[in-house]
Amino acid sequence: MRYFVAVGHKAVTTGDFKLDDISGGAGRLDILVRCVNSSFFLSHSIRKDTQLYLVLQGGSDAPKTVRFSGEEVRYLNPDERSTSSLIRNALMKKLPAEGEVRSSPGVYVSKMSFSDVISSLSEKGRIVYLKEDGKDIKEYSTPEDPVFVISDNVDLTNEEEDILLQYAPDTVSLGPNSLHADHCIILVHNEMDRTSP
Ligand SMILES: C[S@@+](CC[C@H](N)C(=O)[O-])C[C@H]1O[C@@H](n2cnc3c(N)ncnc32)[C@H](O)[C@@H]1O
Repeated sequence: MRYFVAVGHKAVTTGDFKLDDISGGAGRLDILVRCVNSSFFLSHSIRKDTQLYLVLQGGSDAPKTVRFSGEEVRYLNPDERSTSSLIRNALMKKLPAEGEVRSSPGVYVSKMSFSDVISSLSEKGRIVYLKEDGKDIKEYSTPEDPVFVISDNVDLTNEEEDILLQYAPDTVSLGPNSLHADHCIILVHNEMDRTSP
């Protein structure tokens, strides 16, 4: 399995945003929506071996985590509007204090924080922090079931980095330029497709 965790520092956690305002009022939810696209879409199929955790940290009901499972997901299309709608439906769900609720096939929502997500995924695979100044991915042997952690349009905060450090992550770079989060996911997939198909 390939796991990705994408942090949306200002991404809204209530479902009352407009679908045509995802890059403004919804706290740069557009970045996370593009991460969904990059995580799952091949030209003619969906990557079933991938799970994506979107950690939303903005708005009045933070934090929330929306999880997409490639194995089960339905009604996922390449356009940003319909993916935003899947996320919005998830954010409208009434949530228990613990545990996930299924919003639609392959889309789950919970009150999990970044710390909760990293802690639970650390039991499934090795944490790999994607960062510009990390070890070159060309010289890195990707572990089984890697958990790639990525930030949105700002870097992870010191507190978030401290959480990661508790799990002794590998810190891996995709190249000399600072890239968009969704582009990083494409590059990671491509690298793994070639080295550990
Ligand atoms: C747009 S960047 C974040 C802000 C960026 N560091 C800056 O100073 O403008 C989005 C995220 O993608 C990941 N990222 C971007 N470029 C990368 C690279 N060359 N190697 C590894 N990860 C990268 C990091 O997780 C980063 O936080």
